[in-house]
Amino acid sequence: MKKYLMIASIALLPHSSPIYATNAVDELLNQYRSQGVEAFSAKAGQILWHQKFTKKDNIRQCTTCHTDNLRNSGKHVRTGKFIQPLAPSVNPKRLMKVKHIRKWLKRNCKWTFNRECTIQEKGDILLYIQSQ
Ligand code: HEC
Repeated sequence: MKKYLMIASIALLPHSSPIYATNAVDELLNQYRSQGVEAFSAKAGQILWHQKFTKKDNIRQCTTCHTDNLRNSGKHVRTGKFIQPLAPSVNPKRLMKVKHIRKWLKRNCKWTFNRECTIQEKGDILLYIQSQ
């Protein structure tokens, strides 16, 4: 039954139109699509998630603060601040606010990769996190 509902709602909501966006991730993906990205891949997002960047002999990854398992809580590597799990399956409050996602993707990509993520990368990462 659940599956039928999902299929029905996917069929009813044309993804190209932001007016029909059902949540923050859809809204962002729609924006990225309208800027020219054709398709997103959770697999590519997963690879990025584990990609290593070396800065001053330190290895930086998304996992540095969020851990290898998105269902676990994390810890800010510098401030020690507790970070709630990113996976929506264990933390339903995740990925709800466009503004919050934008702000943190910008900051975290810069901190981790020393540059902002492209819209392709942001979409891939969001799909990956959403699938967890
Ligand atoms: C230096 C520590 C640190 C690193 C490294 C880090 N993050 Fe984060 N991240 C945070 C903190 C702190 C927050 C904000 C607090 C929160 O939302 O719990 C956050 C929040 C987020 C959010 C917002 C989630 C939501 O519910 O809106 C996303 C998405 C995210 N991070 C993705 C990433 C990605 C992708 C990477 C790798 C490019 C990354 N993070 C690397 C510390 C980090």
